[in-house]
Amino acid sequence: MYMNSQTLDLQDPLKRFRERFHIPQRDGKDLTYLCGNSLGLQPKTAREALNHELDTWQQLGVEGWFESLHETTPSWLSYHERCQQPLADIVGARPAEVCPMNALTVNLHLLLESFYQPKFYKTKILTIAGDFPSDQYALETHIRSRGLDPDQNLIEIQPGSDGLIATAAIQQAIAQHADQLALVLMSGLNYYTGQVYDMQAIAQTAWEHGIYVGFDLAHAIGNVPLNLHEWNVDFATWCSYKYLNGGPGAVSGVFVHERHHTPKTPRLAGWWGYDEDRRFKMTKGFVPMAGAAGWQLSTPNILALSVHKAAIDITAEASMAALRQKSEQLTAYLAQVLEPFADHIRVLTPSHPTQRGCQLSLLVKNDGKALFNFLTDAGIIGDWREPDCIRLAPTPLYNTFRDVWQVGEGLDRFFSRRPFAAR
Ligand SMILES: Cc1ncc(COP(=O)(O)O)c(C=O)c1O
Repeated sequence: MYMNSQTLDLQDPLKRFRERFHIPQRDGKDLTYLCGNSLGLQPKTAREALNHELDTWQQLGVEGWFESLHETTPSWLSYHERCQQPLADIVGARPAEVCPMNALTVNLHLLLESFYQPKFYKTKILTIAGDFPSDQYALETHIRSRGLDPDQNLIEIQPGSDGLIATAAIQQAIAQHADQLALVLMSGLNYYTGQVYDMQAIAQTAWEHGIYVGFDLAHAIGNVPLNLHEWNVDFATWCSYKYLNGGPGAVSGVFVHERHHTPKTPRLAGWWGYDEDRRFKMTKGFVPMAGAAGWQLSTPNILALSVHKAAIDITAEASMAALRQKSEQLTAYLAQVLEPFADHIRVLTPSHPTQRGCQLSLLVKNDGKALFNFLTDAGIIGDWREPDCIRLAPTPLYNTFRDVWQVGEGLDRFFSRRPFAAR
């Protein structure tokens, strides 16, 4: 029998953070929201931060780029700088190596422009099969835009019979294809299986073979510990609407390792990446800003950035170390709660904590959609992936052990009311 959820909640050092979020309700009761892997919840400070910038716009107009209503808030021109420290803390980088900008798929194309340099026989990109569709489309069309055939230039590593891809298989594939590879690009945490890949080991192998490596961190950022600088990752991008709670379609961000912070690194440029001191001189010839900020193209959306900053400040305040500690406990608890239903549900996500974040992906043997609908009706919000997968992601900032316990209650009611054999 597993531990009492109330005792675990009482012992939770992060429990005060739940109050900082709006928990969606139904009939006046908090929903059991386990869908932070898809859309994180709204921080209560988001509205205040947004209103502040609306006030700035209202009262200062264009002067808002250079002035601010409060000395504690940045002028719009330096807004991205105020996001750099918290983002750097979250991804394990130096502040100049990160910058909020654009959306994830847009950033993937921009970073491919910089780090996919096909030459002679080294024209191929190594990735994993079944990665997020947007990434697949980006790779396919980007390779084609260089006049190359994606069927010839994309190597996909297939999962094993357990549906997972071992880090050793990725390292082996890098070594095997090294003389043809221009780039390794893959997710750090698989959106479907919930598997975390050993990014450090993959980056190390790619480095040994002189191949650039980049990660899509959509499901990793704010979820698992990252140390991108030390791991020698060349580049990464993410979205901030999942575990960073930046709101639907929230601004993405990039990491570019400092060894690439040179004007020689190829890129597609725009005026917002131009050296800030000279940007408004409007002269010919692109001169990049130092650091990841030099990959910006367009005027940032300050209203979106204000919410983004309010949200990442909370994650940085809680600290990834403390979040991870609670996350491991919450997810281990979820795994325990699922155990009695092993006849009906197979957990696809690896069981070892180093190979998973907070999400567990459940493969339901029969009638998974009915179970999903039942849980949703019972106020337990996860998400459904065809053909038979329910993803549940207890997130340490706002989920409780009681939320996880509710899952067990829901499953118990579903399976006892409709025994598996009778369906
Ligand atoms: C792993 C992964 N990659 C890429 C994307 C696409 O992100 P965007 O719509 O911001 O381009 C998502 C969106 O959920 C995702 O989960």
